[in-house]
Amino acid sequence: MGCCKVSAQELVDIAHRLVGSGKGLLAMDESNGTCDKRFVAAGIPQTEETRRAWRELIVTTPGLGENISGAILYDETIRQRKKDGTPFVTVLADAGIIIGIKVDTGAKSLAGHPGEKVTEGLDGLRARLQEYFQMGARFAKWRAVISPQDGHPSRGCIDANAHALARYAALCQEAGLVPIVEPEVLMGGNHTIERCGEVTEETLRSVFSHLVAQRVMLEGMVLKPNMLLPGLTCPKQEDVDAVATATVKCLLRVVPAAVPGIAFLSGGQSGELASARLNAMNLMAKSTMQRLPWSLTFSFARAIQQPALEIWRGQDRNISVAQDALAHRARCDMAALHGEYTAAMERL
Ligand code: G3H
Repeated sequence: MGCCKVSAQELVDIAHRLVGSGKGLLAMDESNGTCDKRFVAAGIPQTEETRRAWRELIVTTPGLGENISGAILYDETIRQRKKDGTPFVTVLADAGIIIGIKVDTGAKSLAGHPGEKVTEGLDGLRARLQEYFQMGARFAKWRAVISPQDGHPSRGCIDANAHALARYAALCQEAGLVPIVEPEVLMGGNHTIERCGEVTEETLRSVFSHLVAQRVMLEGMVLKPNMLLPGLTCPKQEDVDAVATATVKCLLRVVPAAVPGIAFLSGGQSGELASARLNAMNLMAKSTMQRLPWSLTFSFARAIQQPALEIWRGQDRNISVAQDALAHRARCDMAALHGEYTAAMERL
C-alpha cells in the first residue's frame, strides 16, 4: 500500500473511530457554489463571510461531539477560523471530532456520454492530500453522481466513476487518510425503488471491483452510499420498512464484510425521514438477529443542517435556536444508529 505517515493499523483505527463508535458523520463540505445555492433559497447573502459565519455556528454547536465522530470540511472551510481567530480545525479537535476533507473537484460532463457526469480531481491530488494531512485531516471524501433516469447510467459512466473513486481511495491511504467512497445514485426523477436498486447494485459492484484492482485496503475505508429510494416524483413512494429492507438486502449482496462501516448520505430526504429509515435498518438488524458485517451510520449534510439553516437566516440573534435544531437532528440520527429513534423525539 505504500502508506508513508500512518500505518495500515492506524487507518483501520481511524475508520473504526469514524463509523464504529456509535456516532455518525456531519458533512459540511458543500462547495462554495452549493453553499451559495442553499443560501439563496434561505435568503442569506452569498459571501465568504456569511459562509464562514454559518460554519462557525455549526462547529461551535454545544455538545456536537457527543453525536458526531467526524466532520467533512471543504477547502475554504478547513482554512477558516472563528471570529476570535481560533481555527475551525482546533474547535472540532477540541470537541473530539475527527477532521475530514472533500477532495474531489466536482462532477463534470463525461465526454461521449451526453447527460452523464464523471467526478474530477485526480490531477495533483497526491500533493493536496499531503497538505490536508499537515492541516490535521485524517479522512477524505470523493463523491460520484450516477443518474438512473433517461436510460442512464451507461457502463462507461459507472466504470469511469468507479475507477476514479478507486484511484482517489488508494492515494488517500498512501497519504494516511481514510477514504470515504461515495457513489451516489441520485433521487431526482420518477424511477421506482426497484430501478434505484438495480443501478445501486451495479454501481457498487463496479466500485468494489475497481477498489480491489487498485489495492485499496477495504478495512481502512468507509462506504457512503445512497439508501434505496424511489425517485422524488415516482408515483409509488415506499414506507420506511420497505426502504430499510431493500437497502440492507442490496448492501448485503455487494459490500464486502471487510468494510468497517457504511455511512449513508441523505440525498435530499427530510431530516425526519432520513432518521426514520436509518433507524429501521438498525432496528431490523437488532430484532431479526441478522448480524450485519458492518456498522450502519450516517454522513448527512442537508438532513442535519437544513432546519438550522432555515432558522438562522444569517441573523446573529437566531444562532442559539439554530444550534439547538442542529444538535437535535444529530441526536435523532445517533438514536437511529441504535434503533432508538422514535417520531416522539421530534416533539421534545
Ligand atoms: O456529498 C454529499 C454530502 O456529503 C451529503 O449530502 O446528505 O445532503 O446528501 P446530503
